[in-house]
Amino acid sequence: MSAKRAVNFGAGPSALPLSVLQEASTNLLNFQNTGIGITEISHRSKEFTGFLADLEARIRKQLDVPPTHKIIFTQGGGTGQFSAVVYNLLARHRLLHPELGDDERRLEYVVTGSWSKKAMEEAKRLCAGPRGVGGTVKVVVDARTFSKDGKSFDNIPPHAEYQFSPYTTTSLVHLRTRPPPPALIYYCENETVDGVQFSDDLKSPQSFPFGLLFPPDSDNEEGEGHQPLLPLVADYSSSFMSRPIPRLADHAVIFAGAQKNLGPAGLTIVIVRQDCLVDADAAGKLGAPPIPLTFAYKTIADSNSVYNTPSVFAIYVAGLVVKNIEEEGGLVQYEQVNRRKKEKLYGIVKVGEEAGVLRRKVQEGSESWMNVVFEVLGVDGLVSKEAEQRFIDGASQRGMVALKGHRFATLHTSFYFSEKLTIIRLFLEIDPSEVRPLINVAGLALIVSTGIRASIYNAVTEDDVEGLVVYVKEFIQTEKESRA
Ligand SMILES: Cc1ncc(COP(=O)(O)O)c(C=O)c1O
Repeated sequence: MSAKRAVNFGAGPSALPLSVLQEASTNLLNFQNTGIGITEISHRSKEFTGFLADLEARIRKQLDVPPTHKIIFTQGGGTGQFSAVVYNLLARHRLLHPELGDDERRLEYVVTGSWSKKAMEEAKRLCAGPRGVGGTVKVVVDARTFSKDGKSFDNIPPHAEYQFSPYTTTSLVHLRTRPPPPALIYYCENETVDGVQFSDDLKSPQSFPFGLLFPPDSDNEEGEGHQPLLPLVADYSSSFMSRPIPRLADHAVIFAGAQKNLGPAGLTIVIVRQDCLVDADAAGKLGAPPIPLTFAYKTIADSNSVYNTPSVFAIYVAGLVVKNIEEEGGLVQYEQVNRRKKEKLYGIVKVGEEAGVLRRKVQEGSESWMNVVFEVLGVDGLVSKEAEQRFIDGASQRGMVALKGHRFATLHTSFYFSEKLTIIRLFLEIDPSEVRPLINVAGLALIVSTGIRASIYNAVTEDDVEGLVVYVKEFIQTEKESRA
Protein backbone atom coordinates (compact mmCIF):
# COMPACT_ATOMS: atom_id res chain seq x y z
CA MET A 1 0.00 0.00 0.00
CA SER A 2 1.39 3.44 -0.89
CA ALA A 3 0.10 6.22 1.42
CA LYS A 4 -0.09 5.67 5.17
CA ARG A 5 -3.67 5.28 6.40
CA ALA A 6 -5.01 8.13 8.50
CA VAL A 7 -6.63 7.63 11.89
CA ASN A 8 -10.22 8.37 10.98
CA PHE A 9 -12.38 9.94 13.70
CA GLY A 10 -15.26 10.51 11.26
CA ALA A 11 -18.84 10.13 12.45
CA GLY A 12 -19.98 7.96 9.57
CA PRO A 13 -19.08 6.54 7.15
CA SER A 14 -16.26 5.75 9.48
CA ALA A 15 -13.23 3.61 10.12
CA LEU A 16 -13.30 -0.13 9.43
CA PRO A 17 -10.76 -2.70 10.67
CA LEU A 18 -7.78 -2.98 8.32
CA SER A 19 -7.91 -6.79 8.29
CA VAL A 20 -11.55 -6.61 7.14
CA LEU A 21 -10.72 -4.21 4.31
CA GLN A 22 -7.86 -6.44 3.20
CA GLU A 23 -10.01 -9.56 3.15
CA ALA A 24 -12.81 -7.68 1.37
CA SER A 25 -10.43 -6.49 -1.32
CA THR A 26 -9.39 -10.08 -2.05
CA ASN A 27 -13.02 -11.19 -2.25
CA LEU A 28 -13.82 -8.35 -4.63
CA LEU A 29 -12.09 -10.52 -7.19
CA ASN A 30 -13.11 -13.98 -6.01
CA PHE A 31 -15.79 -14.62 -3.39
CA GLN A 32 -15.41 -17.92 -1.53
CA ASN A 33 -13.58 -19.51 -4.49
CA THR A 34 -16.59 -19.12 -6.76
CA GLY A 35 -14.45 -17.31 -9.31
CA ILE A 36 -16.92 -14.43 -9.08
CA GLY A 37 -16.32 -11.24 -7.08
CA ILE A 38 -18.61 -10.34 -4.18
CA THR A 39 -20.06 -7.34 -6.04
CA GLU A 40 -20.87 -9.54 -9.02
CA ILE A 41 -22.43 -12.60 -7.43
CA SER A 42 -26.19 -13.21 -7.38
CA HIS A 43 -27.93 -12.32 -4.14
CA ARG A 44 -29.86 -15.59 -4.57
CA SER A 45 -26.75 -17.76 -4.91
CA LYS A 46 -26.31 -20.35 -2.18
CA GLU A 47 -22.97 -18.80 -1.24
CA PHE A 48 -24.50 -15.38 -0.59
CA THR A 49 -27.73 -16.53 1.10
CA GLY A 50 -25.60 -18.81 3.29
CA PHE A 51 -23.38 -15.86 4.20
CA LEU A 52 -26.44 -13.74 5.05
CA ALA A 53 -27.94 -16.45 7.27
CA ASP A 54 -24.60 -16.77 9.03
CA LEU A 55 -24.44 -13.00 9.63
CA GLU A 56 -27.94 -13.08 11.09
CA ALA A 57 -26.96 -15.89 13.46
CA ARG A 58 -23.78 -14.12 14.58
CA ILE A 59 -25.59 -10.83 15.33
CA ARG A 60 -28.30 -12.78 17.16
CA LYS A 61 -25.67 -14.47 19.31
CA GLN A 62 -23.64 -11.35 20.09
CA LEU A 63 -26.68 -9.24 21.00
CA ASP A 64 -28.62 -12.10 22.56
CA VAL A 65 -31.64 -11.48 20.34
CA PRO A 66 -34.49 -13.77 21.47
CA PRO A 67 -36.58 -15.92 19.06
CA THR A 68 -39.46 -13.45 19.55
CA HIS A 69 -37.53 -11.05 17.29
CA LYS A 70 -36.51 -11.25 13.61
CA ILE A 71 -33.38 -9.61 12.26
CA ILE A 72 -33.87 -8.12 8.82
CA PHE A 73 -31.43 -6.47 6.44
CA THR A 74 -32.66 -3.63 4.32
CA GLN A 75 -31.69 -0.29 2.75
CA GLY A 76 -32.67 3.36 3.08
CA GLY A 77 -30.54 4.10 6.16
CA GLY A 78 -31.67 5.45 9.48
CA THR A 79 -33.64 8.10 7.62
CA GLY A 80 -35.61 5.40 5.78
CA GLN A 81 -36.48 3.90 9.15
CA PHE A 82 -37.78 7.26 10.43
CA SER A 83 -40.59 6.69 7.90
CA ALA A 84 -40.77 2.87 7.99
CA VAL A 85 -41.48 2.67 11.72
CA VAL A 86 -44.37 5.10 11.31
CA TYR A 87 -45.97 3.09 8.48
CA ASN A 88 -45.49 -0.34 10.04
CA LEU A 89 -46.50 0.54 13.57
CA LEU A 90 -49.52 2.55 12.49
CA ALA A 91 -50.65 -0.48 10.46
CA ARG A 92 -50.19 -2.66 13.56
CA HIS A 93 -52.16 -0.18 15.65
CA ARG A 94 -54.97 -0.13 13.08
CA LEU A 95 -55.21 -3.93 13.24
CA LEU A 96 -55.21 -3.92 17.04
CA HIS A 97 -57.56 -0.94 17.47
CA PRO A 98 -59.63 -0.50 14.30
CA GLU A 99 -62.22 1.58 16.14
CA LEU A 100 -59.89 4.48 17.02
CA GLY A 101 -59.72 7.85 15.28
CA ASP A 102 -56.48 9.37 13.97
CA ASP A 103 -56.05 11.64 17.00
CA GLU A 104 -56.08 8.53 19.22
CA ARG A 105 -53.22 6.89 17.30
CA ARG A 106 -50.46 8.57 19.23
CA LEU A 107 -46.81 8.48 18.19
CA GLU A 108 -44.75 9.44 21.22
CA TYR A 109 -41.23 10.82 20.72
CA VAL A 110 -38.45 11.28 23.24
CA VAL A 111 -36.37 14.11 21.76
CA THR A 112 -32.78 14.15 23.05
CA GLY A 113 -30.88 15.38 20.00
CA SER A 114 -30.80 16.25 16.31
CA TRP A 115 -31.61 12.72 15.08
CA SER A 116 -34.61 12.02 17.31
CA LYS A 117 -35.84 15.52 16.41
CA LYS A 118 -35.53 14.67 12.71
CA ALA A 119 -37.39 11.39 13.23
CA MET A 120 -40.17 13.21 15.09
CA GLU A 121 -40.40 15.83 12.32
CA GLU A 122 -40.66 13.08 9.69
CA ALA A 123 -43.51 11.46 11.65
CA LYS A 124 -45.26 14.84 11.84
CA ARG A 125 -44.79 15.35 8.10
CA LEU A 126 -46.22 11.91 7.30
CA CYS A 127 -49.17 12.40 9.64
CA ALA A 128 -50.05 15.93 8.53
CA GLY A 129 -53.16 16.84 6.58
CA PRO A 130 -56.15 14.93 5.24
CA ARG A 131 -53.89 12.74 3.06
CA GLY A 132 -51.54 11.96 5.96
CA VAL A 133 -50.99 8.48 7.37
CA GLY A 134 -53.37 9.00 10.26
CA GLY A 135 -51.66 9.52 13.59
CA THR A 136 -50.88 12.25 16.08
CA VAL A 137 -47.33 13.04 17.13
CA LYS A 138 -46.61 13.91 20.74
CA VAL A 139 -43.24 14.96 22.16
CA VAL A 140 -42.90 13.13 25.47
CA VAL A 141 -39.89 15.15 26.56
CA ASP A 142 -37.57 17.64 24.85
CA ALA A 143 -34.09 17.59 26.36
CA ARG A 144 -33.41 21.21 25.35
CA THR A 145 -35.63 22.29 28.25
CA PHE A 146 -33.04 20.83 30.64
CA SER A 147 -29.93 22.13 28.90
CA LYS A 148 -27.40 24.58 30.31
CA ASP A 149 -28.38 27.29 27.81
CA GLY A 150 -32.04 26.33 27.32
CA LYS A 151 -31.59 25.55 23.62
CA SER A 152 -28.92 22.86 23.14
CA PHE A 153 -29.13 19.11 23.22
CA ASP A 154 -26.62 18.48 26.00
CA ASN A 155 -28.35 16.06 28.36
CA ILE A 156 -30.57 13.07 29.00
CA PRO A 157 -33.55 14.46 30.95
CA PRO A 158 -34.50 13.22 34.44
CA HIS A 159 -36.97 10.30 34.45
CA ALA A 160 -39.63 12.35 36.21
CA GLU A 161 -39.91 14.65 33.17
CA TYR A 162 -41.10 12.06 30.62
CA GLN A 163 -44.77 12.61 29.89
CA PHE A 164 -45.72 9.21 28.46
CA SER A 165 -49.46 8.79 28.03
CA PRO A 166 -51.05 6.29 30.35
CA TYR A 167 -51.56 3.09 28.43
CA THR A 168 -53.54 -0.06 28.87
CA THR A 169 -52.62 -3.68 29.01
CA THR A 170 -54.96 -6.05 27.26
CA SER A 171 -57.02 -6.05 30.44
CA LEU A 172 -60.70 -5.21 29.95
CA VAL A 173 -60.69 -3.31 33.25
CA HIS A 174 -58.02 -0.97 31.93
CA LEU A 175 -59.62 -0.66 28.51
CA ARG A 176 -62.56 0.99 30.20
CA THR A 177 -60.51 3.38 32.28
CA ARG A 178 -57.43 4.32 30.30
CA PRO A 179 -56.69 5.29 26.72
CA PRO A 180 -55.25 2.54 24.49
CA PRO A 181 -51.46 2.24 24.11
CA PRO A 182 -49.72 4.52 21.62
CA ALA A 183 -48.87 3.37 18.10
CA LEU A 184 -45.21 3.90 18.86
CA ILE A 185 -42.82 5.18 21.51
CA TYR A 186 -39.55 6.38 20.04
CA TYR A 187 -36.06 7.25 21.25
CA CYS A 188 -32.54 7.53 19.83
CA GLU A 189 -30.03 5.71 22.02
CA ASN A 190 -26.96 7.65 20.88
CA GLU A 191 -27.25 11.12 19.38
CA THR A 192 -24.33 11.20 16.95
CA VAL A 193 -24.41 14.96 16.33
CA ASP A 194 -24.81 16.17 19.88
CA GLY A 195 -22.72 13.51 21.62
CA VAL A 196 -25.51 12.56 24.04
CA GLN A 197 -26.25 8.93 24.96
CA PHE A 198 -28.54 7.05 27.33
CA SER A 199 -26.59 5.27 30.04
CA ASP A 200 -26.49 1.48 29.80
CA ASP A 201 -26.57 1.32 33.61
CA LEU A 202 -30.30 1.00 34.22
CA LYS A 203 -29.90 2.43 37.73
CA SER A 204 -28.46 5.66 36.36
CA PRO A 205 -30.76 8.73 36.16
CA GLN A 206 -29.52 9.06 32.55
CA SER A 207 -30.73 5.60 31.50
CA PHE A 208 -33.81 5.17 29.33
CA PRO A 209 -36.79 5.15 31.75
CA PHE A 210 -37.95 1.58 31.10
CA GLY A 211 -39.47 1.57 34.58
CA LEU A 212 -42.06 4.16 33.51
CA LEU A 213 -43.22 1.98 30.63
CA PHE A 214 -42.94 -1.38 32.33
CA PRO A 215 -43.71 -0.68 35.99
CA PRO A 216 -42.23 -3.40 38.21
CA ASP A 217 -45.46 -3.93 40.12
CA SER A 218 -47.66 -3.42 37.16
CA ASP A 219 -51.25 -3.66 38.35
CA ASN A 220 -52.40 -5.54 35.30
CA GLU A 221 -54.57 -8.59 35.65
CA GLU A 222 -52.10 -10.92 34.03
CA GLY A 223 -50.13 -10.87 37.24
CA GLU A 224 -46.75 -9.71 38.36
CA GLY A 225 -43.92 -9.71 35.87
CA HIS A 226 -46.14 -9.44 32.80
CA GLN A 227 -44.66 -7.08 30.22
CA PRO A 228 -47.13 -5.64 27.76
CA LEU A 229 -46.04 -5.73 24.12
CA LEU A 230 -45.35 -2.03 23.86
CA PRO A 231 -44.38 -0.52 20.50
CA LEU A 232 -41.01 0.72 21.77
CA VAL A 233 -38.68 1.83 18.94
CA ALA A 234 -34.99 2.67 19.29
CA ASP A 235 -32.56 4.19 16.81
CA TYR A 236 -29.23 2.49 17.55
CA SER A 237 -27.52 3.73 14.37
CA SER A 238 -24.36 5.02 16.03
CA SER A 239 -23.97 2.61 18.93
CA PHE A 240 -25.04 -0.72 17.40
CA MET A 241 -22.57 -3.50 18.31
CA SER A 242 -20.51 -1.23 20.54
CA ARG A 243 -21.90 -2.76 23.75
CA PRO A 244 -24.87 -5.01 24.68
CA ILE A 245 -28.35 -3.47 24.26
CA PRO A 246 -30.18 -3.09 27.60
CA ARG A 247 -33.64 -4.71 27.67
CA LEU A 248 -33.49 -5.60 24.00
CA ALA A 249 -36.44 -8.01 24.31
CA ASP A 250 -38.73 -5.17 25.45
CA HIS A 251 -38.27 -3.32 22.17
CA ALA A 252 -40.64 -3.64 19.24
CA VAL A 253 -38.10 -2.30 16.73
CA ILE A 254 -34.38 -1.53 16.96
CA PHE A 255 -32.74 -0.18 13.83
CA ALA A 256 -29.27 0.89 12.78
CA GLY A 257 -27.51 2.05 9.64
CA ALA A 258 -24.34 -0.03 9.26
CA GLN A 259 -21.95 2.80 8.50
CA LYS A 260 -20.68 3.50 12.02
CA ASN A 261 -19.62 0.30 13.77
CA LEU A 262 -20.51 -2.35 11.28
CA GLY A 263 -19.68 -1.74 7.65
CA PRO A 264 -20.15 0.49 4.63
CA ALA A 265 -23.20 2.69 4.09
CA GLY A 266 -26.09 1.11 2.22
CA LEU A 267 -27.11 -1.53 4.76
CA THR A 268 -29.72 -1.01 7.46
CA ILE A 269 -30.29 -3.62 10.15
CA VAL A 270 -33.69 -3.86 11.80
CA ILE A 271 -34.52 -6.09 14.76
CA VAL A 272 -38.30 -6.46 14.80
CA ARG A 273 -40.52 -8.19 17.34
CA GLN A 274 -42.74 -10.65 15.49
CA ASP A 275 -46.03 -8.98 16.46
CA CYS A 276 -44.81 -5.97 14.45
CA LEU A 277 -44.53 -7.99 11.23
CA VAL A 278 -48.03 -7.03 10.22
CA ASP A 279 -50.07 -7.67 7.11
CA ALA A 280 -50.14 -4.19 5.59
CA ASP A 281 -52.93 -5.10 3.17
CA ALA A 282 -55.18 -6.32 5.98
CA ALA A 283 -54.53 -3.02 7.79
CA GLY A 284 -55.27 -1.24 4.51
CA LYS A 285 -58.74 -2.80 4.41
CA LEU A 286 -59.35 -1.15 7.78
CA GLY A 287 -58.25 2.24 6.44
CA ALA A 288 -54.48 2.26 7.06
CA PRO A 289 -52.38 3.78 4.27
CA PRO A 290 -50.54 1.28 2.03
CA ILE A 291 -46.91 0.62 3.01
CA PRO A 292 -44.34 0.83 0.19
CA LEU A 293 -43.17 -2.78 -0.13
CA THR A 294 -39.49 -2.07 0.44
CA PHE A 295 -40.46 -0.56 3.82
CA ALA A 296 -42.84 -3.34 4.88
CA TYR A 297 -41.14 -5.36 7.64
CA LYS A 298 -43.26 -8.46 6.98
CA THR A 299 -42.42 -8.50 3.27
CA ILE A 300 -38.70 -8.27 4.01
CA ALA A 301 -38.82 -10.83 6.84
CA ASP A 302 -40.92 -13.33 4.84
CA SER A 303 -38.32 -13.30 2.08
CA ASN A 304 -35.30 -13.59 4.44
CA SER A 305 -34.19 -10.10 3.41
CA VAL A 306 -33.90 -10.91 -0.30
CA TYR A 307 -37.33 -9.72 -1.49
CA ASN A 308 -35.39 -7.46 -3.84
CA THR A 309 -31.66 -7.08 -4.42
CA PRO A 310 -30.03 -6.26 -1.08
CA SER A 311 -26.81 -4.28 -0.61
CA VAL A 312 -24.66 -7.35 -1.20
CA PHE A 313 -21.26 -5.75 -0.66
CA ALA A 314 -22.26 -3.87 2.51
CA ILE A 315 -23.74 -7.08 3.93
CA TYR A 316 -20.57 -8.93 3.08
CA VAL A 317 -18.33 -6.39 4.84
CA ALA A 318 -20.67 -6.32 7.86
CA GLY A 319 -20.31 -10.12 8.02
CA LEU A 320 -16.52 -9.79 8.14
CA VAL A 321 -16.76 -7.11 10.83
CA VAL A 322 -19.00 -9.26 13.04
CA LYS A 323 -16.62 -12.23 12.62
CA ASN A 324 -13.81 -9.91 13.62
CA ILE A 325 -15.75 -8.84 16.73
CA GLU A 326 -16.17 -12.50 17.68
CA GLU A 327 -12.48 -13.25 17.13
CA GLU A 328 -11.52 -10.34 19.36
CA GLY A 329 -13.61 -11.58 22.28
CA GLY A 330 -17.15 -10.54 21.36
CA LEU A 331 -19.32 -7.68 22.43
CA VAL A 332 -18.51 -8.05 26.10
CA GLN A 333 -14.85 -7.45 25.31
CA TYR A 334 -15.72 -4.54 22.99
CA GLU A 335 -17.78 -2.99 25.75
CA GLN A 336 -14.75 -2.95 28.04
CA VAL A 337 -12.45 -1.54 25.38
CA ASN A 338 -14.99 1.12 24.38
CA ARG A 339 -15.46 2.08 28.04
CA ARG A 340 -11.70 2.55 28.48
CA LYS A 341 -11.47 4.54 25.23
CA LYS A 342 -14.12 7.05 26.21
CA GLU A 343 -12.79 7.37 29.78
CA LYS A 344 -9.33 8.25 28.47
CA LEU A 345 -10.67 10.83 26.03
CA TYR A 346 -13.12 12.51 28.42
CA GLY A 347 -10.33 12.47 31.00
CA ILE A 348 -8.02 14.61 28.88
CA VAL A 349 -10.87 16.90 27.82
CA LYS A 350 -11.47 17.53 31.52
CA VAL A 351 -7.81 18.47 31.94
CA GLY A 352 -8.27 20.91 29.04
CA GLU A 353 -11.34 22.31 30.73
CA GLU A 354 -9.43 22.95 33.95
CA ALA A 355 -6.75 24.72 31.93
CA GLY A 356 -9.38 26.95 30.25
CA VAL A 357 -8.49 25.61 26.78
CA LEU A 358 -11.34 23.16 26.10
CA ARG A 359 -15.00 22.95 27.10
CA ARG A 360 -17.20 19.86 27.14
CA LYS A 361 -20.55 20.33 25.44
CA VAL A 362 -22.47 17.58 27.21
CA GLN A 363 -23.58 17.47 30.84
CA GLU A 364 -21.98 14.92 33.15
CA GLY A 365 -23.55 11.46 32.92
CA SER A 366 -25.10 12.02 29.47
CA GLU A 367 -21.88 11.78 27.44
CA SER A 368 -21.73 9.50 24.44
CA TRP A 369 -19.24 6.64 24.38
CA MET A 370 -19.04 6.91 20.61
CA ASN A 371 -19.04 10.63 19.78
CA VAL A 372 -17.01 12.86 22.07
CA VAL A 373 -17.83 16.53 21.49
CA PHE A 374 -16.06 19.56 22.88
CA GLU A 375 -15.16 23.14 22.04
CA VAL A 376 -11.82 24.92 21.82
CA LEU A 377 -11.62 28.22 23.68
CA GLY A 378 -9.64 31.36 23.01
CA VAL A 379 -7.81 33.57 25.53
CA ASP A 380 -11.10 35.30 26.33
CA GLY A 381 -12.64 32.00 27.44
CA LEU A 382 -15.07 32.04 24.49
CA VAL A 383 -15.28 29.53 21.66
CA SER A 384 -12.56 30.43 19.19
CA LYS A 385 -12.67 29.54 15.52
CA GLU A 386 -8.93 30.18 15.24
CA ALA A 387 -8.02 27.97 18.21
CA GLU A 388 -10.33 25.26 16.83
CA GLN A 389 -8.55 25.46 13.47
CA ARG A 390 -5.16 25.19 15.21
CA PHE A 391 -6.44 22.04 16.92
CA ILE A 392 -7.65 20.50 13.68
CA ASP A 393 -4.48 21.42 11.76
CA GLY A 394 -2.24 19.98 14.47
CA ALA A 395 -4.24 16.74 14.51
CA SER A 396 -4.12 16.48 10.75
CA GLN A 397 -0.30 16.91 10.74
CA ARG A 398 -0.21 13.86 13.04
CA GLY A 399 -2.42 11.82 10.71
CA MET A 400 -5.66 12.23 12.71
CA VAL A 401 -8.56 13.36 10.55
CA ALA A 402 -12.32 14.09 10.46
CA LEU A 403 -12.42 15.78 13.88
CA LYS A 404 -14.61 18.71 12.85
CA GLY A 405 -18.08 18.81 14.39
CA HIS A 406 -21.28 18.16 12.49
CA ARG A 407 -22.70 20.39 9.76
CA PHE A 408 -26.18 20.14 8.30
CA ALA A 409 -25.69 20.53 4.57
CA THR A 410 -28.89 22.44 3.82
CA LEU A 411 -28.39 25.57 1.80
CA HIS A 412 -30.54 28.44 2.97
CA THR A 413 -31.05 31.80 1.37
CA SER A 414 -32.35 34.74 3.34
CA PHE A 415 -33.07 38.26 2.14
CA TYR A 416 -32.68 41.21 4.44
CA PHE A 417 -33.94 44.61 3.43
CA SER A 418 -32.41 47.60 5.10
CA GLU A 419 -33.06 51.25 4.12
CA LYS A 420 -31.10 51.23 0.88
CA LEU A 421 -29.29 47.99 1.01
CA THR A 422 -30.26 44.46 0.25
CA ILE A 423 -28.03 41.95 1.84
CA ILE A 424 -28.29 38.46 0.51
CA ARG A 425 -26.85 35.87 2.70
CA LEU A 426 -26.22 32.31 1.83
CA PHE A 427 -25.05 29.94 4.44
CA LEU A 428 -24.95 26.34 5.43
CA GLU A 429 -27.66 25.98 8.00
CA ILE A 430 -26.08 24.83 11.20
CA ASP A 431 -27.80 24.68 14.53
CA PRO A 432 -28.80 28.32 15.22
CA SER A 433 -26.82 28.30 18.46
CA GLU A 434 -23.72 27.64 16.40
CA VAL A 435 -24.21 30.50 13.97
CA ARG A 436 -23.41 34.06 14.92
CA PRO A 437 -24.05 36.32 11.95
CA LEU A 438 -22.62 39.79 12.34
CA ILE A 439 -24.22 42.23 9.98
CA ASN A 440 -23.08 45.77 9.39
CA VAL A 441 -23.77 48.24 6.60
CA ALA A 442 -20.66 47.22 4.72
CA GLY A 443 -21.55 43.61 4.42
CA LEU A 444 -21.81 40.40 6.31
CA ALA A 445 -19.52 38.34 8.41
CA LEU A 446 -20.54 34.87 9.38
CA ILE A 447 -18.91 33.17 12.33
CA VAL A 448 -19.60 29.49 12.37
CA SER A 449 -18.45 27.29 15.18
CA THR A 450 -19.21 23.59 15.06
CA GLY A 451 -16.73 22.44 17.71
CA ILE A 452 -14.79 19.19 17.71
CA ARG A 453 -16.27 15.73 17.49
CA ALA A 454 -14.10 12.66 17.86
CA SER A 455 -16.04 9.56 16.87
CA ILE A 456 -14.40 6.56 18.48
CA TYR A 457 -16.32 3.66 16.98
CA ASN A 458 -15.20 0.03 17.30
CA ALA A 459 -12.57 0.22 14.54
CA VAL A 460 -10.84 3.18 16.18
CA THR A 461 -8.47 1.24 18.41
CA GLU A 462 -7.41 1.96 21.97
CA ASP A 463 -3.97 2.89 20.57
CA ASP A 464 -5.60 5.35 18.18
CA VAL A 465 -7.44 6.97 21.09
CA GLU A 466 -4.24 7.07 23.14
CA GLY A 467 -2.56 8.84 20.22
CA LEU A 468 -5.32 11.45 20.27
CA VAL A 469 -5.02 11.83 24.04
CA VAL A 470 -1.28 12.51 23.72
CA TYR A 471 -1.99 15.12 21.06
CA VAL A 472 -4.73 16.83 23.09
CA LYS A 473 -2.35 16.99 26.06
CA GLU A 474 0.32 18.65 23.91
CA PHE A 475 -2.22 21.05 22.49
CA ILE A 476 -3.39 22.13 25.94
CA GLN A 477 0.21 22.74 27.00
CA THR A 478 1.09 24.76 23.89
CA GLU A 479 -2.05 26.88 24.19
CA LYS A 480 -1.35 27.56 27.85
CA GLU A 481 2.22 28.61 27.08
CA SER A 482 1.18 30.87 24.23
CA ARG A 483 -1.26 32.63 26.55
CA ALA A 484 1.13 33.04 29.49
C1 LIG B 1 -28.35 8.27 15.26
C2 LIG B 1 -28.59 8.42 13.78
N1 LIG B 1 -29.82 8.17 13.30
C3 LIG B 1 -30.08 8.29 11.98
C4 LIG B 1 -29.11 8.69 11.10
C5 LIG B 1 -29.45 8.82 9.65
O1 LIG B 1 -28.87 7.75 9.00
P1 LIG B 1 -28.75 7.68 7.41
O2 LIG B 1 -27.79 8.74 7.00
O3 LIG B 1 -28.23 6.29 7.21
O4 LIG B 1 -30.10 7.88 6.86
C6 LIG B 1 -27.82 8.94 11.55
C7 LIG B 1 -26.76 9.33 10.61
O5 LIG B 1 -25.65 9.65 10.95
C8 LIG B 1 -27.55 8.80 12.93
O6 LIG B 1 -26.32 9.03 13.41
